[in-house]
Amino acid sequence: MNDDAEPSAVPSSADFARRVLEWYDRQGRHDLPWQCPATPYRVWISEIMLQQTRVETVRGYFDRFMQRFPDVATLAAADIDEVLGLWSGLGYYARARNLHHAARCIATDHGGEVPDDPHALTALPGIGRSTAGAILSLGHGRHHAILDGNVKRVLARHAGIEGWPVRAPVQRALWAVAEERTPAERTAAYNQAMMDLGAMVCLRRPICDACPVSTDCSARRAGRTADIPAPKPKREIPRRETIALVIQRSEDGAILLERRPPSGIWGGLWSLPEFADDAELNAWLATRLGEVEPEPLAPVEHAFTHFRLCIHPRRVLLAGIIDGAREGADTGWYLPEDAPGGLPAPIRRLADRLGGSPHTADLPGINPQVG
Ligand code: ADE
Repeated sequence: MNDDAEPSAVPSSADFARRVLEWYDRQGRHDLPWQCPATPYRVWISEIMLQQTRVETVRGYFDRFMQRFPDVATLAAADIDEVLGLWSGLGYYARARNLHHAARCIATDHGGEVPDDPHALTALPGIGRSTAGAILSLGHGRHHAILDGNVKRVLARHAGIEGWPVRAPVQRALWAVAEERTPAERTAAYNQAMMDLGAMVCLRRPICDACPVSTDCSARRAGRTADIPAPKPKREIPRRETIALVIQRSEDGAILLERRPPSGIWGGLWSLPEFADDAELNAWLATRLGEVEPEPLAPVEHAFTHFRLCIHPRRVLLAGIIDGAREGADTGWYLPEDAPGGLPAPIRRLADRLGGSPHTADLPGINPQVG
């Protein structure tokens, strides 16, 4: 091969692993508490602790846990409250409950030995495919791939795997690459190296100059390390539409308000009468006010946590002060600033746009026919 040529975009798995391992020998972490010694039990406990927690936080918890529960039998015999006590402050307490439960299964079903079979491991509470891979490789010296969050980032970038890594097709693609690249020799060192690379170099903002595989990293070549792996997609916020009726008395600018039902958005607040669509609005107007042509005003948008509301206001001006028009205990005429309890924010914005008392001379008023 021409030495000046750009490296191939698809490296051989062996070449990839060789560079990762070389880096690990010089720069990786070799003296983490669970590596000295890396028994299956110690690896299992550390992997569960590390699932949602940083290495530096885990160190102290791991040492205290090992002092009190040095093996499966001690953990299985312990009271759950004592296990939870040693977990206190690590968070995600289901992990501690699963650990305790799994220790009892290992004691009864596996003679007290952490299994070296992937199916037996993943049948235990709290152990998924990647944790099983870590226990098998780091603890038992078996040839198994891992794919935790850090490794996903390294592989997604290097192999140019697009999409959010939690999505099933993306996971499948990542597992395929992880398995293909995990060497049969020095598997434990390679897996630890990949975790270290993800934790120390291939960060969210990667330090590509320090990376042993940057020359043929797809994301780096494409200048897309910020886009790969793709972040969790933003939830589509549903949009609701509503028609709000502003019946305004031209004389004093008062508008008809009604109290909303106690549940639902703005429960119990005073607001404008609402309609599902113009047909419903026009039918309502026809029975109360006769033939009127409501004037469409510019829509108002409002974001709730779970949806966006688009309010389409329709205004009808009433010439002369009237009573009636849907009045009752829960309806009434108010100047916007006098609404009992204040108006909901977007209705308030809409009311502010209406300005003060309008003039019938400028605007098409109607004469009410209140029935
Ligand atoms: N995160 C998960 N497993 C780890 C390990 N063995 N070393 C460092 N960080 C990890």
